[in-house]
Amino acid sequence: MNDSSNDRRKFLKNTGLLALSAGLIPSLLKAETKGEDADSQACDKTTLDFYGEGPFYTANAPTLTSGQLASNTEPGSRMIISGRVMNLDCTQAIQNATIDIWQADDAGAYDNSGFKLRGKTTTNSQGFYQFETIKPGKYLNGSTFRPSHIHIKISATGFPELTTQIYFQGDSSIPGDAAASITSGNFDASARIIPLYTNSQNVLEGTWDVVIDANGSGLGQSDIHLNKGMIYSASPNPFRDKIEIRYGVFNKAKVSLNVYDLQGQLVANLEEEVLEAEKYVATWKAPLNLKKGYYFISLQINQLQVHYLKILKS
Ligand SMILES: [Fe+2]
Repeated sequence: MNDSSNDRRKFLKNTGLLALSAGLIPSLLKAETKGEDADSQACDKTTLDFYGEGPFYTANAPTLTSGQLASNTEPGSRMIISGRVMNLDCTQAIQNATIDIWQADDAGAYDNSGFKLRGKTTTNSQGFYQFETIKPGKYLNGSTFRPSHIHIKISATGFPELTTQIYFQGDSSIPGDAAASITSGNFDASARIIPLYTNSQNVLEGTWDVVIDANGSGLGQSDIHLNKGMIYSASPNPFRDKIEIRYGVFNKAKVSLNVYDLQGQLVANLEEEVLEAEKYVATWKAPLNLKKGYYFISLQINQLQVHYLKILKS
């Protein structure tokens, strides 16, 4: 959108492209993302919560209006949770996935007769979801408090249903909780303990991406796109005024590099051109009035999204 402020250049001419196009990409991606910037782009299958759905689920919750789980008058710290639902190697956004949410109120109580703090939303065409709520209070589970948590059930056509919970970094009740303290195996909660950030409106913001098993979804081999290109890095992340994005194009193709906000709205178009097979660097100088918070960079090759990366404007 603001091409004059953006700059693209090639780097490391052709180095490594052969290795990348030879089918090594998923493992390389994992190795790279596990390293310096693990929280921005890990692509591990989302785990179930040890406590499953727990005792307080109510079926048939209403569809949220404007993504609002908590009414404006609901007591508590306002909080926005957003993210993206992706397939198993994060090459495909899952649209129209149902996100069924329930949580305790500020005092740690569930509404077990009605649908307060219960509702469903769906992912949009880019696979994004977002809901606004309040930070849940803690409640006693035996003699100890469960950490603040939100229950989430994700369902999408062709995918097995996934029921899990998210927690918040720094919660002193996490180490003593039988579910939130698990750090390996099928119930590993570590990727579900998310950081919260206070935005300029004094609202807590957190993002949580969901990776679900694509088996049986109808996604075929042609939907595995990391053989076409990928984003290697975006730095610094978090960024203040500008961010440098390194990406690779593996075959000559029409390439788009876009920045989206969490609602899936286009914020900037950094590249829109036929490019040769190369590695490239794009520098995005964010507009001065850009709101603090999370954004996504998306690499599209021949109109197909092949990769995305989450970035934080601080
Ligand atoms: Fe709960």
